[in-house]
Amino acid sequence: MDLKKIKETVIKCTKCELATTRTNSVPGKGNFQSDVIFVGEAPGKNEDKHGEPFIGIAGKRLTESLENAKISRESIYITNVVKCRPPKNRVPSTTERSACSEYLQQEIAIIKPKIICILGNTAFNSILGGNEITKYRGKIVKKDNQLYFLTIHPAATIYNQKLIVTLKNDILKLFDLIRDLKNGKVIPVDIDYTT
Ligand code: URA
Ligand code: SF4
Repeated sequence: MDLKKIKETVIKCTKCELATTRTNSVPGKGNFQSDVIFVGEAPGKNEDKHGEPFIGIAGKRLTESLENAKISRESIYITNVVKCRPPKNRVPSTTERSACSEYLQQEIAIIKPKIICILGNTAFNSILGGNEITKYRGKIVKKDNQLYFLTIHPAATIYNQKLIVTLKNDILKLFDLIRDLKNGKVIPVDIDYTT
């Protein structure tokens, strides 16, 4: 299995109801050698129209936060919990999330990121079973030998302008961590789900 194959499968996928309302599926995009995978919730209107993740206003906020940390969009990998837009941007159901989860698992297995950056509550809940991202953002989680970094969804900065500072600072922290990981430093884990 390679990323191209996953992309082709996602484009044709009809495993859940969202296939009947989407315009385009939105496979993950970016550098397959990235140290980090960013995971959002689901495509929105712009993403559905063009078949690319995070290209609308939320995407601009994410790009801005990455650029603030001197990181280009091309150097990282971005994907979503579900690859098709839910009607009226509703939160994807648990059925839709589990139907789509195999693609995210495959993306992770291929890229083998040093850390996964969780963007917002839906990704936090779907991947780690968490809630209240505003309480846990900025934290580092370890589960089944995989590191995760938690932050807010970039769309949250649209409704609350002050949150762009939070997002930017979290992204700076994330890339500091990645630098430390590459230098072989031991990362202090805030929450350890490993049993
Ligand atoms: N919001 C998301 O969660 N993902 C996108 O791709 C765009 C907006
Ligand atoms: Fe398939 Fe995922 Fe789209 Fe559902 S959301 S149709 S599982 S690609």
